[in-house]
Amino acid sequence: MKSGLVYCLKNFHLRRKNPIMQAKGNAPFFNEIFNEDCIAGMQAHLPDGSVDLVITDPPFGIEFQAKKANYNRKGSRVLEGYNEIKGTDYLDFTRQWLTQVKRVLKPSGSLYIFSGWNYLKELLIVLDELDLHLVNHLIWKYQFGLVTKRKYVTSHYHVLFCSLDEKQRRFFPYARFDKDEKHPDGGSAHYKDKEDVWIIPREYWNGDVKTPTKLPAELIRKILAYSSQPGDLVLDPFLGSGQVAVVSHLEGRRYAGFEIVPEYFKFAKKRLDTGSYRLKAEE
Ligand SMILES: C[S@@+](CC[C@H](N)C(=O)[O-])C[C@H]1O[C@@H](n2cnc3c(N)ncnc32)[C@H](O)[C@@H]1O
Repeated sequence: MKSGLVYCLKNFHLRRKNPIMQAKGNAPFFNEIFNEDCIAGMQAHLPDGSVDLVITDPPFGIEFQAKKANYNRKGSRVLEGYNEIKGTDYLDFTRQWLTQVKRVLKPSGSLYIFSGWNYLKELLIVLDELDLHLVNHLIWKYQFGLVTKRKYVTSHYHVLFCSLDEKQRRFFPYARFDKDEKHPDGGSAHYKDKEDVWIIPREYWNGDVKTPTKLPAELIRKILAYSSQPGDLVLDPFLGSGQVAVVSHLEGRRYAGFEIVPEYFKFAKKRLDTGSYRLKAEE
């Protein structure tokens, strides 16, 4: 396994180099996040063809409530206020934000969208309408689902890997494992790593402030490795806890992002500004 893949997540400190604005050529590209609606925000802040990689986990479109008691007995550690989109508005909402994402993505760029199965159909419809190319339909298998009695347990997410221009899209096939590296179970390590079902556990942040829908850092690191290079600009229009921006920064990428809920935005901003991967809960 290549170096940098395994590192201790607890109390990990971010590199604090260039936390704010950074110029590339004449374009004002920045390491900045905004407490704004992402549709208006992308229009206001991001020029056409400026983003190398989009990694995002849009609102679920189900009656999701960040119920504290479901996640931690000491409820005050879980932030509330998640902004949900009504089912009847989901298709139009998806059209609006994906139109902006298409505008800001470079032709060489890639887009990864996380989705449950409830509104997967709407995402696929809009990807088709906007002529975005579906490269892979990945499955992220996690270790925790809600217990059921009359149906099966949902323990996976869909990850739609898409591009604007298949000829120009970049992919780095040996970014995580060398060409000849063997997997411990036999066979090629890079082949195994590139299979389209990813088994990656969720992170438990005992004793620290948390949000209920946070993506594990390992998932983001894997996408960054295969679809970007250091210095690239990574966008997440739906930041939540800020995982995509924080991990992108840790991996030497530039970041931009939006979060509409003030409490989540403040949490993400504090993580970036203080250089802390995890924040201790105030007792
Ligand atoms: C599924 S969560 C993202 C979780 C995130 N991937 C993480 O690791 O923490 C979706 C987020 O989008 C936010 N959101 C909903 N509508 C928004 C909008 N129009 N603009 C920006 N953020 C929005 C929600 O408040 C929520 O925090």
